[in-house]
Amino acid sequence: MNKIIIAPSILAANFGKLDQEVEMVNASVAEWLHIDIMDGVFVPNISFGMPVLDAIRKKSNKVLDFHLMIVNPEKYISTFVNLGASVISVHYEACPHLHRTIYQIKEAGALAGVAINPHTSVDLLEDVIADLDLVCVMSVNPGFGGQKFIHRTFEKVEKLREMANKLNPNLKIEIDGGVSANNAIDLVKAGANVLVAGNFVFTSENPIETIAKLTESTNF
Ligand code: DX5
Ligand code: ZN
Repeated sequence: MNKIIIAPSILAANFGKLDQEVEMVNASVAEWLHIDIMDGVFVPNISFGMPVLDAIRKKSNKVLDFHLMIVNPEKYISTFVNLGASVISVHYEACPHLHRTIYQIKEAGALAGVAINPHTSVDLLEDVIADLDLVCVMSVNPGFGGQKFIHRTFEKVEKLREMANKLNPNLKIEIDGGVSANNAIDLVKAGANVLVAGNFVFTSENPIETIAKLTESTNF
């Protein structure tokens, strides 16, 4: 069975009680914890730096899924692996030597992912798709949590899954931005198997239950 992974995004957590938020995710059935790194250059926002990541790593018992929304991500790959990253996605739009960066991630011991902005065609991944563990399809413009899901994502995911079936059947397709119970099932039907959820999880009344329901409903 194609197991669907839910990855709560810590960006949507209450940082005033970060410990408890990470513990909540630990206590849930989520397999991954999604960590958004923003530099104020590639995206307009700045998220958190190394001391915060170190605190998260020490507390979390989940697979840490790092999403690098930064320029020159190749400078920091080993730093993030040392901070517990098991999955690292760099942005297509930020990497002039993407193939080299993908292998840098693999050699550092993490799964290699490429994230694409809403305006970036999945066709552009054709020459690297076989080298990848994951493609993160952005369903909002990166930089902020809590944005509206962009509907065109469905077509992109279908097309990417078709390409992956031919060139890399084990490819994980992750969806990031505006994921909720309203679109999760259809995203999985389109070919996604990792769903990032920030606000939908952390602003819900019972986040542990929300994660459980999202997991149950998508593992059909
Ligand atoms: C957006 C981030 C997302 C964000 C998702 O730039 O990459 O991971 O945290 O948050 P929601 O689910 O609230 O859109
Ligand atoms: Zn993200």
